Amino acid sequence: MYANCRNYRTIWVDRNDKKIIQIIDQRHLPHKFVIEDIRTVDQIFIAIKDMHVRGAGLIGATAGYGMYLATLEATEALNFDEYLINSAQKLKSARPTAVNLSWAVNKQLKAIVKGETIDEKIEIAFDTANEIANSDALSCKKIGEHGSKIIEEISKNKNGEVVNILTHCNAGWLAFVDYGTALSPVYHAFSKGIKVHVWVDETRPRNQGARLTAWELEQQSIPHTVISDNVGGHLMQHGLVDIVIVGSDRTTYTGDVANKIGTYLKALAAFDNNIPFYVALPSSTIDWEIEDGIKQIPIEQRGEEEVKYIQGLHEGEIKKVLLTPEKSPAINYGFDVTPARLITGLIFERGICKANKKEIFKLFGKFN
Ligand code: MRU
Repeated sequence: MYANCRNYRTIWVDRNDKKIIQIIDQRHLPHKFVIEDIRTVDQIFIAIKDMHVRGAGLIGATAGYGMYLATLEATEALNFDEYLINSAQKLKSARPTAVNLSWAVNKQLKAIVKGETIDEKIEIAFDTANEIANSDALSCKKIGEHGSKIIEEISKNKNGEVVNILTHCNAGWLAFVDYGTALSPVYHAFSKGIKVHVWVDETRPRNQGARLTAWELEQQSIPHTVISDNVGGHLMQHGLVDIVIVGSDRTTYTGDVANKIGTYLKALAAFDNNIPFYVALPSSTIDWEIEDGIKQIPIEQRGEEEVKYIQGLHEGEIKKVLLTPEKSPAINYGFDVTPARLITGLIFERGICKANKKEIFKLFGKFN
């Protein structure tokens, strides 16, 4: 997607050196556009943990490249396989909620084991990392095609008037390799000439909405308005929201959705106001092992400084300022779970279905 009028992905291999992975360091957006070179597994671990990259799909793709770098490093280790297993464990521990992380690492482990020589293993890891990234981008593109039909339908029912979409956090292209999930239908609808406007939840404490979603939409020239997190319910009561579309970090095979903290409250408000609430996600975000999202999905807790401090631009420099009394304790849950009963539908790369086990299994050709 466009950033500063150029087409980018969020992660790629350096054109001149296959051993360097490049990422957009999202900690500096929207104020600075910084590209970071990554050469080691440790740097990949830090990039995921400290959120240079974030968002379920991008975390998975980054971990995929992390395992490729692990094969390069493992050639110097005493035991190649042991080094890979340790790297896999380390990468998986970087963030607990997004299931794409372990999905990508496991996919790499399964693939690499097939190589007969070290060189073959390295080549397989490189190809698999690229495949994970490419298929993430392709899935997101397809999600956009399917999801835009819902927006088009609403637009028709409104005789072509602007469709108002509310989204939470950032599930745009910055959260994936390209296109995004929740925003992909918006991009697709916009490119077809449908009039859209996006309400962007700021999404405290790290403000991925205000910083990243607003930046993405501004870069693609899509009409949008940033709102504080508590405004959504009021807008819904006054007929100013036609549809809510959010992303997901982990979705159970029964349709419960873990997403950025605060999503559940938006789902409750949408339910109460009879507003369609959709979740857009690639199939790599489904957890096929977990039945009950509220009881079983691990919820990340992050440092209290993210709640107590706020980051912004001051006189050309990015600064953090203290928001609360210095000694007040704070707690920082990263995600919450929206139960399937509050969700109108799930938008996957293979189509749209209801958020329940029967429909999900049917869409994926699985049987009980
Ligand atoms: O903590 P983050 O920024 O990695 O959180 C992930 C998210 O961006 C959201 O929860 C998003 O809506 C779903 S992930 C595409």
